[in-house]
This record gives sequence, structure tokens and C-alpha cells, in this order.
Amino acid sequence: MNTPLTIALSKGRIFRETLPLLAAAGIEPADDPDTSRKLILDTSQDDVKLVIIRAADVPTYVEYGAADVGVAGKDVLMEHGGNGLYEPVDLGIARCRLMVAGPEQGVSRTRRLRIATKYVQSTRRHYADRREQVEIIKLYGSMELAPLVGLADRIVDLVDTGNTLRANGLVPLEHIADISSRLIVNKAAMKMKHRRIAQLIDRLKAACGN
Ligand code: ATP
Ligand code: PRP
Repeated sequence: MNTPLTIALSKGRIFRETLPLLAAAGIEPADDPDTSRKLILDTSQDDVKLVIIRAADVPTYVEYGAADVGVAGKDVLMEHGGNGLYEPVDLGIARCRLMVAGPEQGVSRTRRLRIATKYVQSTRRHYADRREQVEIIKLYGSMELAPLVGLADRIVDLVDTGNTLRANGLVPLEHIADISSRLIVNKAAMKMKHRRIAQLIDRLKAACGN
């Protein structure tokens, strides 16, 4: 048997939305990560395995070759920086926007704007481009809470329907980037497992219409 081709995926939205694309490429997982505690899943192809990890860890596993390929949101890739990775396919799934948001009534202030986010690098770049000096507060989730309790003036977070912002009295203020999930490939694996990875890329491109 070939050395296995490993594909890194996160549970939830990315797993769900990647599933039909993988099925079109002839790859069907043997377990459901939402019910199984397994972190390495067999698939309908003996030499293809799925590794199930946190969304923000996917580029790291692929960069170091612990997974050959993976699926990661552009938001996560912008934070990671893309070192050691190819990004050959925009899968067009998990679409949303990275935005600055804040309270409807705006803020009056005498100090630098405070921005709460888990997207520190993208936030830094956005305000550097605008030549605005801000203080960035790193959070790991529930960013929408920060302006409500006086931790920050604004947030940088993902927006899809806008429901989460609305439910918390926040409005979108500035667009930073359109986000979708990408297939990423380890650069060495692209050479060593070229035939199989090239075939996977072709099949996924055909399946997502890109
Ligand atoms: P974890 O659960 O490990 O903390 P996470 O919350 O980032 O990670 P998901 O919510 O599954 O994990 O998000 C995975 C990816 O899906 C994100 O990196 C982003 O690209 C995209 N995404 C996140 N929220 C939305 C949304 N509301 N609509 C569409 N796409 C989204
Ligand atoms: C993401 C993101 C926002 C929300 C935006 O969170 O961090 O909080 O989705 O989506 P909306 O504009 O459609 O409300 P997360 O993935 O934690 O929440 P989810 O379960 O709603 O996807």
C-alpha cells in the first residue's frame, strides 16, 4: 500500500461543507467526528486518512508535513502567514467577511481605539494601512461581548448573516476581507506525492466549480 495521504480538517462547518466535495473526489470518511472521539479517521480509500484538529491548527499541521493537505478558512490563513504552504483551490465554502464592528451609537474617546479580536495580524495590517494607531486586545472567542462590557471600543470578527452583531446591538463598520475556505498543500508533499495530490486538486476543482 502507498504511504497514506493525510487530509487535515476541523470539525463543524468546515467538515460539513467539505464532505460533499470529498465525496465527489471519491473519499468518504468511515466515522463522523461529531459523534466519534477518534482524531484519525479512515476513509473509503485505504491510503487516505483524515485528521481532525482545531480550525486554527490546520495550517500548522500542513506546514510541518504532519498532514499533506488541509482545508482552512482564509481568515486563519491570513493569521498564519502561509509559510510552507501552497493554496491551490478556493473551495468556495464557509463564506463570510472579516469586518470591523462596533456599537451603533459610535464611541467618544480621548485615547487610542481599543480593538478586541482573535485576528491580531489582520487587524494590525488593516489599521497600519489606514495609518491609525490602535490598541489590539487578543481574545479567543465571543468577541461581540467586548464592546458591551467596556473591554474594547470595536471588534474585528467574521460576519455572515449579521445576526450575531444585531443580537448584540453592534453594526458592521469596515470591510477587511472576503473569506472562504481553501485547500492548502504542504510544499514537500506536493513533490513527493505529486500524482495523488494533483488528482485530488483536479477533482476538488471540478467538484466546487473553480
Ligand atoms: P474553533 O471551534 O476550533 O474555535 P472556529 O470557531 O474558528 O474554531 P468554525 O466556527 O468551525 O471554527 O469556523 C471555521 C471557519 O469557518 C472559520 O475559520 C471561517 O473561515 C469560517 N466561518 C466561521 N464562522 C462563519 C460563519 N458564521 N459563516 C460562514 N463561515 C464561517
Ligand atoms: C462566527 C463568528 C461570528 C458569527 C457570525 O462564530 O465568529 O460570531 O459566526 O455569523 P453571523 O453573521 O451569521 O451571525 P461561530 O462560528 O462561533 O458561530 P456560529 O456557530 O454562528 O457559526
